[in-house]
Amino acid sequence: MNWTRKHLLGLEELSAEEIVHILDIASGFKEVSTRSIKKVPALNGRTVVNMFFENSTRTNLSFQLAARRLSADLLTFSKSGTSVSKGETLIDTAKNIEAMGVDIMVLRHGAAGAAKHLSENIDCSVVNAGDGQHEHPTQGLLDLYTIREVRGKIAGLKVGIVGDIAHSRVARSNIWGLTKLGAEVMVVGPSTLIPRDIEKMGVTVCTDMDQAIRECDVLNMLRIQFERQDGAPFPSIREYIQLFGVTESRLKQAKPDVTIMHPGPVNRGIELSPEVADGPRSVILRQVTNGLAVRMAVLFLLAGVDG
Ligand code: CP
Repeated sequence: MNWTRKHLLGLEELSAEEIVHILDIASGFKEVSTRSIKKVPALNGRTVVNMFFENSTRTNLSFQLAARRLSADLLTFSKSGTSVSKGETLIDTAKNIEAMGVDIMVLRHGAAGAAKHLSENIDCSVVNAGDGQHEHPTQGLLDLYTIREVRGKIAGLKVGIVGDIAHSRVARSNIWGLTKLGAEVMVVGPSTLIPRDIEKMGVTVCTDMDQAIRECDVLNMLRIQFERQDGAPFPSIREYIQLFGVTESRLKQAKPDVTIMHPGPVNRGIELSPEVADGPRSVILRQVTNGLAVRMAVLFLLAGVDG
């Protein structure tokens, strides 16, 4: 297909064909990281800037490495140590960076809609690397890539997204992507962490983890986002683990080929026991590996060098 989009702001706005195209391009790039010289010249002469206003390990480093593997020039930027801490606005900051001749800005920000706002105020391409509780499109894409790679398909699979749905941009991007590609999505968790009207996104709701674990082909276990919660959505961590945590004993009820995912960072012993997180059904590190290929594909497509 002919890629025409300038920005990647969310999976809500992408068609199924566009999502599959990104995954297919990522498949080509995955091989690059297996070479002894892990680099291609695709973005030679282009400049990527990583602007991270929230903490990140995986997404930040993965975008940095993706840009380097494509031979782009890379600038990195975080809130501390820059003039943002003196009160400069996001747009003023971005316009000053753009004036240095940047082609793609990768933005992580705590405010939902920040990436869209940036895209409406600057000329270069914008990639949303997570905006508040709205979307995290490259996480959604790498999750789709991993499911397709491990299970050989996405359509027809039953995927449980478990835990803190209310605060999760990962859940929203997964729901848009999975439903567009034909998966059946069940959101699972305490009712206090499931947004009202979520069924309008085309998912079913389940508050019984044992039912979910018996029925699902894939379980994507979300991190409990303690930092985003007001009040206590469940009585205690111990009760959350009892009701929704995946342990080896609970996993005995699952289909034998169940796939266990987690976007990271994992609260070990809460969403997943260490034995499950590190066990044979877990694809958590494979998700991270695939994230690099997916982000190479996204930078490549937005740079407009495809075809
Ligand atoms: N999954 C994810 O976004 O992780 P980071 O916050 O470490 O980037």
